[in-house]
Amino acid sequence: MPQTDEHPATPPAHLEFRLEDATHAPSSGNEWWRRSVIYQIYPRSFRDTTGSGIGDLPGITAELHHIASLGVDAIWLSPFFASPQKDAGYDVSDYRAVDPLFGTLADFDELIAEANRLEIKILVDIVPNHCSSEHAMFREALASPRGSAAREHFIFRDGRGKDGQLPPNNWQSHFGGSAWTRVPDPDGAPGQYYLHLFDHSQPDFNWDNPAVGDEFESILRFWLDRGAGGFRVDVAHALIKASGLPDWHGRADGADSPGYPFADAPMFGQPAVHDVYRRWRSICDQYPGERVLCAEANVHPIEAMADWVRPDEMHQSFNFPFLHTGWDAAALKAIITRSLKAFDAVGAPSTWVLSNHDVPRHATRLGAVSPALRPGDGLGPEDVQPDSGLGLARARAATLFMLGLPGGAYIYQGEELGLGDHTLLPHEYRQDPSYARTNGERLGRDGCRVPLPWSDSTPSLGFSDAAGWLPQPEGWETVTRQAQEADPDSTLHFYRLALDLRRTHNLGLGNLNWVEGTDGAQLLGFGNSGVLVLLNLGTAPVPLPAGEVLLASSATAVARSTEAASGLALNPDAAVWLRPETA
Ligand code: NOJ
Repeated sequence: MPQTDEHPATPPAHLEFRLEDATHAPSSGNEWWRRSVIYQIYPRSFRDTTGSGIGDLPGITAELHHIASLGVDAIWLSPFFASPQKDAGYDVSDYRAVDPLFGTLADFDELIAEANRLEIKILVDIVPNHCSSEHAMFREALASPRGSAAREHFIFRDGRGKDGQLPPNNWQSHFGGSAWTRVPDPDGAPGQYYLHLFDHSQPDFNWDNPAVGDEFESILRFWLDRGAGGFRVDVAHALIKASGLPDWHGRADGADSPGYPFADAPMFGQPAVHDVYRRWRSICDQYPGERVLCAEANVHPIEAMADWVRPDEMHQSFNFPFLHTGWDAAALKAIITRSLKAFDAVGAPSTWVLSNHDVPRHATRLGAVSPALRPGDGLGPEDVQPDSGLGLARARAATLFMLGLPGGAYIYQGEELGLGDHTLLPHEYRQDPSYARTNGERLGRDGCRVPLPWSDSTPSLGFSDAAGWLPQPEGWETVTRQAQEADPDSTLHFYRLALDLRRTHNLGLGNLNWVEGTDGAQLLGFGNSGVLVLLNLGTAPVPLPAGEVLLASSATAVARSTEAASGLALNPDAAVWLRPETA
């Protein structure tokens, strides 16, 4: 391997730490998506310019320069398509239209123009597994007889049992309850059932029907022609179902359970799904500017997830096992090592992500007092409340650690402000379908979707002139973007510094050498491109080594690049980046 600046064959010596051999091969290319930082915008909670209480595309265009100033490469834009909003836009009624809530196609074009000016790509969130029950194709299917071509766009089946009273199989919706809903025949008699892996308002498409594939290829071209930088692909592992739709006694989300490994789930990871993405990749490749595909493929184990990013398929896949790994040095080391090896094996970068619109924010997760955190659902007013100081300290440490890793990183809007969930959100505001479908047993994901605090200019903290669609928690007036811009030691400035250093040191394209001898201790360290990254997950301070300079610390946003680390300590729940004094 020839030695280059980006990939030194011998890692620089960090005097008091010995580095193991590289965990993975250096990146096999230098395309932007191998080292990218992508910022997720959840439009309804970003910025409202119309007074509707729901964020919109002009709000994104107006504020995009703030996000650009973080130094990110691209935006992943959660759905803004025409939709009845039964699942916050993941129920699409027209894939080629902007929902009036969010604006118009002209507003989208303006957003692209502003993004181009700021040199940021916009990735559109495509939802191919299901649409809305209001979509014209589904309405036509309902109005058409069983066996008709219109019904073949979806998964309609006769029921089981006497008079078809039982659903066609035992599959459960991700949001609770059966995955089947029965509809009347056009003549009003009880008729067939249709499959919906999510809410009953989200019928699954029949991807065995080539017409469905043709329609989505045309939709991809529609957005690529308008300047989209690529797509985040929703539930990318679910499109094809096993023939015969056999019963499944494992978990609805496919996650391993005793006797029911993910690999056997009949609704996920069917081999033919990869043909879809090979076609999509070839479409993206026909456009200039390295348009990309990122899979939301919650596939287990991580080695299987790598199948989604083989050279002729997608570019990236969200690393959910990393997100779900707790505050545990050995577990983090294991999943990072496995991830790098698994993605290396197919020549793809690993991605790293700590928060998104479906999980409790990491500032809440990492401050939760065990066993209060409900899996996937966060915390409600009846639960033991998180330690927000601890959560923020650990969140910043986890972020600094994550941004030191080679590969692509994702940031969810508001984490750069150190936001946690609204854990005291009154139940009457909850809109996530999983709350209603489980009679409140599951809280749903509203707590991590609260409108952003921008300034002190309005009661909804600059989000809107009106009240936001969800109320903000008490105390957010001290963490608005405006307040944090004015505070040089804020979480916002900390993110900016870390992202700047990550770029300067080219960490995204680097490779990783674990620090020897920290196994078992709650101290985790690695070298990447001459930077030594240390995270203290233990309870005692760890003296920092001599001969190093402190580049960044999760405890402060103040650049300290001339300060010697010797004599300083790495406190519990903190992370640092160091470089040798001689470098
Ligand atoms: C994953 C999305 O991230 C989530 O928000 C949505 O509810 C489901 N897919 C269904 O589209």
